[in-house]
Amino acid sequence: MRILVTGGAGFMGSNFIKYVLKTHPSWQVVNLDKLTYAGNLDNLKEIKKNKNYKFVKGDTVNRGDVKKAIGQGVDKIFNYSAETHVDRSILKPEAFIKTDVFGTFTLLEAARQYNVAQYIQISTDEVYGSIKEGLFNENSPFEPNSPYSASKASADLLCRAYFKTFNLPIIITHSCNFYGPNQYPEKLIPLFITNLLENKKVPVYGKGNQTREWIFTEDYCRAIDLIIQKGEPGETYNIGTGYRRKNIEVTQFILSELGFGQEMIEYVEDRPGHDLRYALNSKKLLKLGWAPFLSFEEGLCRTIKWYQENREWWQKLKSGEYLKYYKKQYLKR
Ligand code: TYD
Repeated sequence: MRILVTGGAGFMGSNFIKYVLKTHPSWQVVNLDKLTYAGNLDNLKEIKKNKNYKFVKGDTVNRGDVKKAIGQGVDKIFNYSAETHVDRSILKPEAFIKTDVFGTFTLLEAARQYNVAQYIQISTDEVYGSIKEGLFNENSPFEPNSPYSASKASADLLCRAYFKTFNLPIIITHSCNFYGPNQYPEKLIPLFITNLLENKKVPVYGKGNQTREWIFTEDYCRAIDLIIQKGEPGETYNIGTGYRRKNIEVTQFILSELGFGQEMIEYVEDRPGHDLRYALNSKKLLKLGWAPFLSFEEGLCRTIKWYQENREWWQKLKSGEYLKYYKKQYLKR
């Protein structure tokens, strides 16, 4: 089995590659990554010499790069490459349209050309928009509210069309919020943990009453693994745990684990168009035989421990030194 993982140097892609090499030791993995600010080869240090792993520096938007990564062909494509941070999409949406929409289009075309046996689109619950109460299921309409979620929704629609029109064997997955080791410290959980480890306050948007559903990286990788074995082409699967928490509850838990009090919270101006609540109905996935191993609190404690023990990894990113480091280490490739 030879697979292409795009965006494999990012948080979720790198966790998935490490999971695959451990769980399916005979599989060959090609990682195509552009190495944007969020792509970090340090995430793959422990497997970079594995003979079944190959890194190709390149952009999913560029047909030549995709062709180079596919080489003589691959059996499966996992499209993890995406711009994912909502706040960045509000400031500068263009990169989101390019990578998330056009990058997906290029990969779909390549999947057709090379007769790929399975194409997995990694997407988000944010495409459904916000839900005051109740749950989104796989048939809920798309009502994205940020340039990020609109770009992911557009890519998902392209995937659907390529299944319907060209019979391309596509599976779309809509996941709730990821967290765990190696997540870039701009997202809520790693930002708050690392701020506190630096004795800095944590910026809670509005009053912190927004709700998110959370999944730990490893549980997520196991869900994808199951979906590629038991899922049906043309189908969409929600990947949710039922662990739904208000931002302020997540904040309080992190504060108390790290021994801080309320004085470290800074309530700041709310995000424009901020979705109040995400909540998934994931019965379709549960029916395939999946359940999360870790509770939210266990996963969060593991994550806190990882950031405590890997200061060098995130301090480089937060200090800006990373850019210098990154140019020296990787841009020559
Ligand atoms: P985030 O991790 O950016 O993920 P998403 O927006 O994709 O759900 O944010 C999670 C929640 O935390 C979201 O409701 C916004 C909020 N948030 C803060 O309150 N402060 C912050 O500094 C960040 C980054 C997020």
